[in-house]
Amino acid sequence: MRGRDPPPPRGTVPRRRGPAMTAPAPWSLTENAPLQALNTFHVAARAPRLLRIADPAALPEALAAVAPAPLLVLGSGSNVLLAADPEDTVLCFENRDIAILEHRADHTVVQAGAGVSWHELVLWSLAEGLSGLENLALIPGTVGAAPIQNIGAYGAQVGEFIQLVDAWDTRDGAWVQLDQDACRFGYRDSLFKQEPDRYLITAVQFRLPLLNELRLDYAGIREELQAMGVELPVAADVANAVIAIRRRKLPDPERLGNAGSFFKNPMLPCEQAELLQHRYPELPVFDGDSEGRRKLSAAWMIQACGWKGRREGDAGVSPEHALVLVNHGNASGAELLAFARRISASVLETFGVPIEPEPRLIGARW
Ligand code: EPU
Repeated sequence: MRGRDPPPPRGTVPRRRGPAMTAPAPWSLTENAPLQALNTFHVAARAPRLLRIADPAALPEALAAVAPAPLLVLGSGSNVLLAADPEDTVLCFENRDIAILEHRADHTVVQAGAGVSWHELVLWSLAEGLSGLENLALIPGTVGAAPIQNIGAYGAQVGEFIQLVDAWDTRDGAWVQLDQDACRFGYRDSLFKQEPDRYLITAVQFRLPLLNELRLDYAGIREELQAMGVELPVAADVANAVIAIRRRKLPDPERLGNAGSFFKNPMLPCEQAELLQHRYPELPVFDGDSEGRRKLSAAWMIQACGWKGRREGDAGVSPEHALVLVNHGNASGAELLAFARRISASVLETFGVPIEPEPRLIGARW
C-alpha cells in the first residue's frame, strides 16, 4: 500500500478537498465552557454559557436567544480576575477585520473590529505608515476592550486617538456611535467603566496622524533608542523600544499568568502627596489629573513593603515589576484576590494610602 491512500472504510464516501461551502456561523453558543484559555491569569473557571459573535450584525438576534441572561464580555481576558465562576453568559467578539475608512491630508481613519488583537492593530498601523499607537505596542487584549479602561503606557493613552466607538446599548436596545467626548476618557477610566454592562463595543474607529509628534520623554524610551543605535527615530522605532522595555519588565502572560498592572497608581490631593514625598524622597510622584491631584507609584510602595518577587502558594508578585500579580500555575481566582488584599493592606498600613485593583473583578467585590 506504500505511496497510495488507504482505501476508505466500507460504507463511507471518500472525502475530497474542495473550497469550504459554508461561511462561519454569525454566532454560536456553548454550554459549560472552560475559560482557562480566555483569561490571561489562566484561572480555571467555567462559564455556564459562552456566546461567540463572529458578525456583530447578528448581535441583537444572538442576545434575544440568550435573554434575559446578563452578560459578561471577555476580550482576551487580559484585564479581568475571575475570583469565582461567572454566573453570567460570557460573550466573546470574534470579528477581526481592520479597514481604512478615510484618507485625509494629515490623518487616516481606521476601523477595527472588537475581536482584533490590540498589538496586531498597532503593528498593522505602523506598517501602513500611520502613527499614534506606537507607545501602546504589546499591550495584551483586544480592540474592543481598549477603550473600556483607556489603555495607556509610556506617555500615551488610547482615548486620544479614538474617533468613534460602535456599540450596542443594552439598556435602550439600540445601536449607538459614541464620539471621543461621549466616551469620557480619563486615567484608566471611561464611560464604559462608569456605566458598566451597558454598552457592548463591536468596533472602534481611530484617527491616526500621518506625522505624530513622537513621545520619547517617558522614562527609559530615549535610553532604549540609544541602546538600539537609533538617532532619528520614527514611530516604528519607538514601538520597537517599547516592545523591548515591556519584554524586559513585564512577564509574558503566555508563560506566566498575569493581567499586567494589578493595581492602579493612586491619585492623592497635592498636599497629601507632598507630605509623603517629603517623608519618602524616593517615592516617584507623577503629574495627576486636571483637578490638581498627583499620581503616586504603587509599584514603589509595594516593593518598599517587601512584596516584589514574593510567592505564597501559586500566587505571587512578579520579580520584574511590583505592580504585576502572577499565577505560578494553579492559583484560583479567590487565592489571587486574597493575596492582592494582603498586599494592599500592608501598603495602607505603611503609607496610609489605599490602592485599588485595575482589572475587573468577577464574583467578588474589592
Ligand atoms: N517601580 C518600582 N518597582 C517596580 C517597578 C517600578 O519601584 O517594580 C517604580 C520605579 O521608580 C519606576 C516607577 O515605579 O520609575 C514607574 O514604573 P513604570 O514605568 O513601570 O510605570 P508604572 O507606573 O508602574 C504604568 C502602567 C503600566 C505601563 C507603565 C509604563 C498603571 C497602573 N500602570 O506602570 O501599565 O506599562 O506605566 O507606561 O498605570 C498595565 O496597565 O497593565 C500596565 C502594565
